[in-house]
Amino acid sequence: MKAIRVIKVNSERPERERVEEAARIIRKGGLVAFPTETVYGLGADAMNERAVRRIFEVKGRPAKNPLIVHVSNKQQVYEIAQVNGIAEKLMETFFPGPLALVIDKKDIPDIVTAGTGGVAVRMPDHPVALMLIELANTPLVAPSANISGRLSPTKAEHVIEDLGDRIDAIIDGGEVKIGIESTVLDVRSKPAKILRMGAVTPEMLEKAGIEVEVVDTRPFGHYRTKARLYVAKPNEMEVMVEEFSRKGLKVGAACITTRCDAEKVVWLGRSMEEVAKNLFSALRELEKSVDVIVVEEVERKGLGRAIMKKLEEAILHRSS
Ligand code: TXA
Ligand code: MG
Repeated sequence: MKAIRVIKVNSERPERERVEEAARIIRKGGLVAFPTETVYGLGADAMNERAVRRIFEVKGRPAKNPLIVHVSNKQQVYEIAQVNGIAEKLMETFFPGPLALVIDKKDIPDIVTAGTGGVAVRMPDHPVALMLIELANTPLVAPSANISGRLSPTKAEHVIEDLGDRIDAIIDGGEVKIGIESTVLDVRSKPAKILRMGAVTPEMLEKAGIEVEVVDTRPFGHYRTKARLYVAKPNEMEVMVEEFSRKGLKVGAACITTRCDAEKVVWLGRSMEEVAKNLFSALRELEKSVDVIVVEEVERKGLGRAIMKKLEEAILHRSS
């Protein structure tokens, strides 16, 4: 098996010739992981069906789960989608940024949209991602660069852990800024439907004058951890940690306001932004050395609502 090519770049001012090397791999139909502002994505030429098929294969992703198409300019959106008024308004406010818009599709292979009539389009707010798309000279599909059903990667090492032996290259641009994925918004209906909660909150969309409805009933399992995951209110953290420890289990705690006496403790941060940024990486770190992880609950507002939704999805995988 060929070893993965790791291309290190400066994430603020990416070295053009290094990104060009990655773009060349994409143009030849290869798979390259790269940083965005949300999480690391696994990129391929959206117009190359074979390359896109390989993305589904290496991730073990169900063929029914469509991929987001990443663009570096608005012109590309008009080429692949039938942009309507509300999409135009949202692009004005949120592009580039962590919002993916589902619009009626135009010229894009069916494998990308999983045969649905809509295509999800997003312009990442990251110099490396934008340069890669531009140099590849094509829109890129880019699912989160994890094995299907696992935690989204926020550092290059997470990608290497999951997919290092199955993809061609990774651009290592350090840790991402946001740490949870983009919000997926279907703008073909009124009110617009939030299909996946993410970094752009319902409050932010409403402030921009867009009426939204939260649907988010994604049928696919997400955020599976290797240790059993529990969520506890701040005042229940200590009791829960103690209970599991008494049973002889190794317990890891992901804390915000509490300080608990677990085998391993990771502090998630103070603000919701910090918690979002650290969550997946904390879970990946804890699962390596404990049997059970207890995460401190956050308030379900703003970003907190998306964070809790992700934790709930992760809990669904627990066998007992
Ligand atoms: O932040 C992000 O969006 C990251 C970075 C890499 O850009 N990408 C990402 O992609 O999270 P992925 O494939 O892991 O998640 C895409 C989500 C899935 O829930 C998928 O079902 C939904 O977007 N989606 C994609 N295309 C869609 C479409 N045409 N219609 C409805 N939902 C769609
Ligand atoms: Mg994903």
